[in-house]
Amino acid sequence: MASIPFSALFLSIILQMALLWSIGSSQKTGFTSIDCGSDSDYTEIQWVPDNKLMSEGTSVVLPDTSIDLVLSTMRLFNGSQSKYCYSLSNSAVTAGAFFLVRASIYPGKNPPYTPKNPDGYFHFRMLIDADMWGDVKILSGDGIWWAYDAYVRAKHSKIDVCFARITPDGDAPFVSGLTLRPLPDTLTSTALMTEKNCFLVCLGHKNYGVPLSGPSWIRFPNDTLDRYWISHEVPDSKLTSTQEAIDRTADSLDQLPERIFQTSLTGSRDFTLNWSTLGNDSVHYVVFRFSEIDPLVNTSGMRVFSIFANGVLLTTEGPIDVFARVGANAAYSFGKTVTLDAGSNITFTFTSLVSSTFPAFVAAAEVFELREIGALSPPSISNWSSLSK
Ligand SMILES: *[C@@H]1O[C@H](CO)[C@@H](O)[C@H](O)[C@H]1NC(C)=O
Ligand SMILES: *[C@@H]1O[C@H](CO)[C@@H](O)[C@H](O)[C@H]1NC(C)=O
Ligand SMILES: *[C@@H]1O[C@H](CO)[C@@H](O)[C@H](O)[C@H]1NC(C)=O
Ligand SMILES: *[C@@H]1O[C@H](CO)[C@@H](O)[C@H](O)[C@H]1NC(C)=O
Ligand SMILES: *[C@@H]1O[C@H](CO)[C@@H](O)[C@H](O)[C@H]1NC(C)=O
Ligand SMILES: *[C@@H]1O[C@H](CO)[C@@H](O)[C@H](O)[C@H]1NC(C)=O
Ligand SMILES: *[C@@H]1O[C@H](CO)[C@@H](O)[C@H](O)[C@H]1NC(C)=O
Repeated sequence: MASIPFSALFLSIILQMALLWSIGSSQKTGFTSIDCGSDSDYTEIQWVPDNKLMSEGTSVVLPDTSIDLVLSTMRLFNGSQSKYCYSLSNSAVTAGAFFLVRASIYPGKNPPYTPKNPDGYFHFRMLIDADMWGDVKILSGDGIWWAYDAYVRAKHSKIDVCFARITPDGDAPFVSGLTLRPLPDTLTSTALMTEKNCFLVCLGHKNYGVPLSGPSWIRFPNDTLDRYWISHEVPDSKLTSTQEAIDRTADSLDQLPERIFQTSLTGSRDFTLNWSTLGNDSVHYVVFRFSEIDPLVNTSGMRVFSIFANGVLLTTEGPIDVFARVGANAAYSFGKTVTLDAGSNITFTFTSLVSSTFPAFVAAAEVFELREIGALSPPSISNWSSLSK
């Protein structure tokens, strides 16, 4: 097992300092952002280098130009340890608190090494607090930045995020950035984590029906929780949009940004949304977001539709009529857990009822995979050396 007791100690101190420095800036309490492989500090966006937090691995400066400073360096774990762990902590990390953990992975256009697998993909593994997070599979050299997100409940005053080879001679793992964002325990997703004693792998937050002119995504500060809402851009014929304010008071638990409700994907009576997932035979949680923003829909029954997941009816309590539930320009959410058969994709089909004069629509969707975790409340930790694995 990797042993990094000193880095664990340093990490805690450094991050506490980062929090102090940030007072008066836009940094929010409990936000931690680590630039892996970096040794320079640039506090204007509150990223801290990992050179004092991680003694293992090699810092690699990518030759890529005009990329985000965070992505320009990575830490490559090309040694022989079975895994390499960052211990994330800040003043908000206490047992039972919820966090979004994000690993930013960017191999660059000229990656520091060639993948071992002839398929041309880098394959390595990520773990959170010894639980399997997921296997990274990213194409070498395509210049795409990957952000892997999970919702995690801290077991104690730190969260371990680890990187490992899948087999002893597999690809060496690497990472460009790690971020930690606190989440309220009142989100429907974090309440689900409490109920099911699980953590959630985020398969995506998608903002449907965004014009081709963008934006490409919405995140902090427009999303106070710093979720990444990736835009699903479509031509104007497939979307409806508004400048009107959206009333979110009746649907406030998830602290959603107003902007995602101001555009929706629509246009055809039936449409499908395809999600590729990570796991087999696993339970997923999906939540769809709606707001009736078309002024022509001004009474119940005008836009009514059902949703299916891989052909199985999801809206078993009856079809969705957003205007009937909350009226115009108001947020409405529909969430459900879905158990998939073997197979790693989910296709959601939206089908409007025959009586519906308007086609089905959707403003946004989030899909999570539920993952089992170990015991939530291990004995309290009395000293740092007992934390090293
Ligand atoms: C790890 O990668 C660095 C940079 O490419 C290289 O200098 C170093 O020798 C490598 N270490 C091992 C153990 O392969
Ligand atoms: C985010 O919010 C800022 C103001 O806080 C605004 O100027 C910007 O246009 C917003 N971006 C998006 C994509 O909503
Ligand atoms: C989703 O998959 C279905 C069935 O494979 C396909 O017909 C449809 O075009 C896909 N939709 C999108 C948006 O890619
Ligand atoms: C799942 O989706 C991916 C990406 O869209 C596609 O390449 C793959 O063929 C799909 N697999 C199945 C079993 O439909
Ligand atoms: C899904 O299951 C198939 C067959 O059991 C297996 O070959 C594949 O590797 C699995 N995929 C994942 C992502 O676990
Ligand atoms: C809905 O809009 C139509 C067309 O603009 C109008 O004729 C009708 O009176 C409106 N109905 C209600 C209940 O406001
Ligand atoms: C700290 O933890 C280690 C490992 O569990 C233990 O051996 C050691 O006695 C502990 N030290 C103190 C001061 O409690």
